[in-house]
Amino acid sequence: MTDQKTPHSLPLSEAITISAQAIGEVMAGRSLTEVLDQLDAHERPIVQSLTFDALRKWVRSHEFIQQFIPKTPPLEVEYLLSVAIALFLQNGAEGKGYAAHTIVDQAVKACSEYEPTMYAKGLVNAVLRKVSLAVQAENEKPYPPDPIPMFFPPWWRASLKRNYSKVWQAMLIQQAQRAPLILRVNAKQHTREEYQDLLQQAGIASEPIGEIAGIALNSALLLREPVPVSDLPGFYSGAVSVQDAGAQIAAVLLDPQPGERILDSCAAPGGKTAHILELAECEMIALELDGERLGKIGGNLDRLRLQSDSVQVVRGDASKAAWWDGKPFDKILLDAPCSASGIVARHPDIPFLRREADIKALQLRQRAIVEQSWKMLKPGGTLLYVTCSVFPEEGEEQAIWFAAEHADALRLSAPGQILPAELNDGFYYALFKKNGP
Ligand SMILES: C[S@@+](CC[C@H](N)C(=O)[O-])C[C@H]1O[C@@H](n2cnc3c(N)ncnc32)[C@H](O)[C@@H]1O
Repeated sequence: MTDQKTPHSLPLSEAITISAQAIGEVMAGRSLTEVLDQLDAHERPIVQSLTFDALRKWVRSHEFIQQFIPKTPPLEVEYLLSVAIALFLQNGAEGKGYAAHTIVDQAVKACSEYEPTMYAKGLVNAVLRKVSLAVQAENEKPYPPDPIPMFFPPWWRASLKRNYSKVWQAMLIQQAQRAPLILRVNAKQHTREEYQDLLQQAGIASEPIGEIAGIALNSALLLREPVPVSDLPGFYSGAVSVQDAGAQIAAVLLDPQPGERILDSCAAPGGKTAHILELAECEMIALELDGERLGKIGGNLDRLRLQSDSVQVVRGDASKAAWWDGKPFDKILLDAPCSASGIVARHPDIPFLRREADIKALQLRQRAIVEQSWKMLKPGGTLLYVTCSVFPEEGEEQAIWFAAEHADALRLSAPGQILPAELNDGFYYALFKKNGP
């Protein structure tokens, strides 16, 4: 791709400017998802791709900035350079992308089109030319210079080093990679094989994902070459969803049965709620505290044709009983609010936004929710505790604490900590059965 237009006809220079501004918002503490949600449809794919890569290559791009600019540049220039340098680095990683001269030209254009960076046109031009040559020279060497090009705060690295002494670097390298596109076929509409045929007819290659952490998945498909969801056959009539393979374990482990009363206690945007409903006709309450996120659950269930009288989407606090009608549940899925440290490959802004003190605060919130949920579970019922975290404070420590506090809790077999890997994000799963009266 050597054209200066992006695949969505947004000039690359404009995409660079918008991406640099989006990075500025993340550095000021906003979630990248929130920033991207505000963009126009034609802007979003390219800006998402540029910002994700810029965040993933942050450490490496800043080594270049320091090497070639003796005095730290103003933030606007720094963010613009980080976006452009990531484009060179991504070319190195994938061996394809924009031509080097296009990256330089478009970054200089972006610089001159935006008032706060206008003055730095010459500087950006000179630096990017040097970086281009340096990256080219680097790519000719047999080994990449920095195995972890992404930023992780020191406390984060220290925690992983302490808890995963042999694999912590591999985990961080894994999380700095682009994540593949993984689908969940709606079992109410198609078998996985039927949907693979539909993909094939549309010229899209897919591979079934058999199991993750010993749990067999029947609906997961890997697309090595990602496509926009609008190209997926039947996407808008609910044939398929985008969902990481590690997340698809939740509904399988919960094993919903027809007619069971099930609570999804932290439900938005509804990925796991929908998967449960695809597997069995159950009586479901999808509970969510955040009013804005709550709306996404209904939207997803509508698209997947899963709305019915037995499904209720409720706004409420899972750590309190105020919303509850007092009828106990057969099963509870508790996909707790957490650091999201396991899903960095799909949310590369997270290491920039998390603070060390968040982990303890999240641990307390998770405990309050699990305590309340346990009271709402029938004797003989099961509770699945899930986080998308790799920190033991939100995973195994919680399960040990819970089992010690509850004599009526029997721990059943579940994968425990799942580390981030090529086909799955990092998750934690613990399953408890409530003993009889
Ligand atoms: C990990 S996300 C859930 C993802 C969802 N289960 C899915 O698979 O699509 C956690 C959710 O819990 C919500 N949440 C946080 N605290 C809550 C509380 N006290 N009660 C209910 N929901 C809460 C958050 O707003 C967030 O939407």
